[in-house]
Amino acid sequence: MKNSVTVHAPAKINLALRVGSPRPDGFHPLNTVFCALDLHDEILLDEAQELELEMVGCDLAVDDSNLGLRAARALQDYTGTSFGSRITIDKKIPVAGGMAGGSANAAGVLVGLNELWELGLGAEQLHEIGAQLGSDVPFSLLGGLAIGTSRGEDLVTLRPGFFQSWVLILDGEGLSTPAVFGEYDRLNPEEHEPASVDELVTALQGGSVSDVAGLLLNDLAEPAFQLRPDVREVFDSVAGRGIAAVLSGSGPTIALLCESDKVADVVAGQLRNEGRTVLRADGPAAGAHVVRSS
Ligand code: C5P
Repeated sequence: MKNSVTVHAPAKINLALRVGSPRPDGFHPLNTVFCALDLHDEILLDEAQELELEMVGCDLAVDDSNLGLRAARALQDYTGTSFGSRITIDKKIPVAGGMAGGSANAAGVLVGLNELWELGLGAEQLHEIGAQLGSDVPFSLLGGLAIGTSRGEDLVTLRPGFFQSWVLILDGEGLSTPAVFGEYDRLNPEEHEPASVDELVTALQGGSVSDVAGLLLNDLAEPAFQLRPDVREVFDSVAGRGIAAVLSGSGPTIALLCESDKVADVVAGQLRNEGRTVLRADGPAAGAHVVRSS
């Protein structure tokens, strides 16, 4: 047993998110391309008798619905251990922003407690536990750039042809993922498979960031805009500032892809001056990983 472990767990964006009609279990089949960003939550796991959780940097209630806590319990159940830990999650990823902040916490806790409790679980076992916690948790573990199918948990890693510089435009309110999927079904009642992401995958492995312009397509954008017309207005007003714009996951965060990190810094500064809340992030970045262990 270790004394203390620190983990970084990344935010993600979906470069494309193509959605099919719901399966019998209610989940939607997806063809998606995930990219992990160098914007991460820091998770500190200290040795303790019981499981305790503190969230720093956000006003999220700590209750049984917290994915970090659920991940710790799932790991106890899977391994039959009754070890505890004082878990502190310092949130930097926007809450309910469509950037897998909750999934990052689940992934980070799995990786961190595997180290703290010296469980010796491999990536496949963590993936299996993670997939039961949420569709995006396996990607939060894997990181990098990857194609996701099924609910998003079947992953194939891609070799990135170039780094991506992003400006993220945040929204104070958050959007509920099930509500956005529900609106998607209302707008698309006919039976259908998710569209292909092959063209984007080819472009991402090439040499030029400008080749992906026009290929960043998110089928959840229209339903999210229906629920939040103000987000559409922001999207339309900022889209021309980068090479391409895409709603991240189920929104409401808007991600602007820029030509270079320098251009992204300038665009972020301009948008800040115009009163927008923005973050700069680059990708692809690593999945949830231990940065300190003692
Ligand atoms: O898997 P996760 O718990 O993150 O999903 C949250 C909600 O998003 C699900 O309850 C479901 O309503 C919706 N969802 C979906 N199809 C997916 C992923 C998520 O309908 N592939």
